[in-house]
Amino acid sequence: MTRCVLVGIPGAGKSTVGRELAKRLSVPFIDTDRIVEERAGKTVSEIFIDDGEAEFRRLEKLAVLDSLLDPNAVVSLGGGAVMDADVRNELKLQTTIWLKTSIPSALRRTSMNQNRPLLLEAPRATLIKLLEQREGFYQEVATKVVVTDDKNIKNLVEEILIDIPLGNAS
Ligand code: S3P
Repeated sequence: MTRCVLVGIPGAGKSTVGRELAKRLSVPFIDTDRIVEERAGKTVSEIFIDDGEAEFRRLEKLAVLDSLLDPNAVVSLGGGAVMDADVRNELKLQTTIWLKTSIPSALRRTSMNQNRPLLLEAPRATLIKLLEQREGFYQEVATKVVVTDDKNIKNLVEEILIDIPLGNAS
C-alpha cells in the first residue's frame, strides 16, 4: 500500500498537490505519466502520435500497477488510469483521494501545458466528456473527495494529510 494515491481529471492539480504532499511527508513523489515517459523514452504526446492511445493505456496500466507497490510514495495517476478495472480494484485497497475540480478551473490549469494530447482540440467539450465518463469511476475508488477549486495548495495538503495513515517516514 502506498501512502496516498491522487486521481482526477486533467487539471485537477494532482501533480502540484502530490508534490507538496510528498514533501510534507518526506517521501518520494511518483507521477505515473513520467514513469511511462521514462520507460518509453518519449513524451505522452509522442506516444499517442507514434503508437496510439491503446499502447499508451497499456504502458500506463503497467506503470500504475508498479507504482502502487511502493509502500512509501505519494502517487499521482494520469486522469484516464481509472478506466481500467484492474487498476480500480487495486485503488480500492489504497488511500485514494479524488481531487474534484470544476471545468473552468481544470481548463485554467491545463491551458498552460501542451503535453495533453486529448485536450488539443475543443478542450472544454473534451473535459466535460471526460468528467461525465469517469466521474463514477473516481467516486468508486475514492476513500475521500477533496474539492480543489478555490483552495490554496497548503490547505489542500492539510485536508488530505488528515486521512493518511501514519507511516515510518513521516
Ligand atoms: C489523460 C491524462 C493525462 C495523460 C494522458 C491521458 C487522460 O494525465 O495521462 O494525456 O486520459 O485523462 P493528467 O491527468 O495528469 O493530465
